[in-house]
Amino acid sequence: MRDVLTIAIDGPAGAGKSTIAKRLAKDYKIVYVDTGAMYRSVALYMMEHHIDLDIEQDVVEALEQVHIRIEYKDQVQHIYLNEEDVTQKIRQQSVGEGASKVSAYLPVRKKMVMMQQEMAKMTSLVMDGRDIGTHVLTDAKVKIFLNADVMIRAKRRYNELLEKGESADLNVIADEIRERDHRDMNREHAPLIQAHDAHLLDTSKMSIDDVVHAIKKIIEMRR
Ligand code: DC
Repeated sequence: MRDVLTIAIDGPAGAGKSTIAKRLAKDYKIVYVDTGAMYRSVALYMMEHHIDLDIEQDVVEALEQVHIRIEYKDQVQHIYLNEEDVTQKIRQQSVGEGASKVSAYLPVRKKMVMMQQEMAKMTSLVMDGRDIGTHVLTDAKVKIFLNADVMIRAKRRYNELLEKGESADLNVIADEIRERDHRDMNREHAPLIQAHDAHLLDTSKMSIDDVVHAIKKIIEMRR
């Protein structure tokens, strides 16, 4: 039988999930699936169509019009919303907030999770999100829960924004992260929680290389 490698990475906003997942995907030559991008695309559709994200019924009705497709170009994930490449557009802070809201609705989650599970049937992959180890890939070979102190996560995001030449306020970013974590951890359906069989890594004092190295050790142990 083919040696299928599935790695599930969960954790709160800004814990470094996507950076780490991309590195693992490159090193193991497997696909990286950023599930947050899918919820962000749903939110973007709603925002562009002036649908109130706080009214579940309206979001769920509009969900039928949302068609998401993922494609890889040079190993980079591109996400299409009704055939428009929205890979860049969805990175806005406001879309992240919106994603946190729409992802609380069960029909939204069901639609995304179905797509994610289909992808995992086809190939080895590393998938990151909030519910990958607990709901999407419950039998993943390796489950990681990445966490870091909230001020450290905020500082990383702050530095990213400064590097891009954007202005930022560290305390505002920290408040936004706290609010998002609170919503993601306290929603009714598939809240953010560490799977019982996930390895917890607190990355507060770890470099990217340290984290990648630690995860690789876990993977080699499990293989
Ligand atoms: O990882 P991110 O910032 O792109 O995620 C945006 C939001 O999407 C996040 O606040 C909660 C939601 N999300 C989710 O509910 N489940 C996932 N598997 C991934 C993201």
